[in-house]
Amino acid sequence: MTKQNPAPGGIDTTRPNVARIYDYLLGGKDNFAVDREAAKQLIAASPDMAGIVRDNRSFIGRAVRFLAEEAGIRQFIDLGGGLPTQTNVHEMAQQVAPDARVVYVDNDPVVWSHGQALLAHGEQVAMVHADLREPTAVLQSPELLGLLDLTQPVAVVCASVLHFVADEEDPHRIIAEYRDHMAPGSYLAISHGTTGTAENDPDDVVGSVTSVYRQASAQLHVRSLEEIRRFFEGFDLVDPGVVWINEWRPDPGVRPAGQPRSLRGGVGHKR
Ligand SMILES: C[S@@+](CC[C@H](N)C(=O)[O-])C[C@H]1O[C@@H](n2cnc3c(N)ncnc32)[C@H](O)[C@@H]1O
Repeated sequence: MTKQNPAPGGIDTTRPNVARIYDYLLGGKDNFAVDREAAKQLIAASPDMAGIVRDNRSFIGRAVRFLAEEAGIRQFIDLGGGLPTQTNVHEMAQQVAPDARVVYVDNDPVVWSHGQALLAHGEQVAMVHADLREPTAVLQSPELLGLLDLTQPVAVVCASVLHFVADEEDPHRIIAEYRDHMAPGSYLAISHGTTGTAENDPDDVVGSVTSVYRQASAQLHVRSLEEIRRFFEGFDLVDPGVVWINEWRPDPGVRPAGQPRSLRGGVGHKR
């Protein structure tokens, strides 16, 4: 956004914003100087940050393809869906299943306004402006209930967003609440920032990245493999379980854009 295209009312352009930082890293244009500055600090801490976010989008693509193609899922809820980007979840799903329906949920006003314009053309896509930490508000929103039938299987996608929910807010309880409203046969897909170790993060890149987010609209709370696995309580993990996102059903011959071990992710099935 430029001087010619100023911020709509109510949008804080003085503080780096997690949706807009991510948009900048993906090469988008829906960001302000303060977001670009934070993104540059992230790149200084982790030079292949832009590759890592692209790898996250690739993980989402493979997970959604699995869900639509192999698991036969036709309803998706994308929690913390983010700003519209090159290939959005509804486009990924509808490439496989043209009848797939997708509800995007995000608490960011910029995401909401851009999402309205870009995503809400079709009858099979809706956007809910809500906080994922309030599952009842999300699941009972008229936009969601107008599009999805929660008595039927649904896939809940939480990509690169649960690490913006602090332990004090009990993200595991929040996900359990979604789980309890999901019909048997539903799926949960997660990618999540993870703790560094002396082996995989000798320079404490995770610590430096976390400190950049301290001034942002939401803070970063990376979690251990065990803590990430715990989100899947009540689900059977689909092979290969919770792994580095680049190792989750990789497409043959495709190399990671960023460092191979960045975020962790997995997909679970509710019986
Ligand atoms: C890093 S982006 C990830 C976007 C997309 N899910 C992906 O992985 O490509 C995180 C998104 O989650 C949204 N978000 C953060 N906290 C949220 C919350 N409590 N409720 C809803 N959305 C949230 C942000 O506004 C942002 O759009």
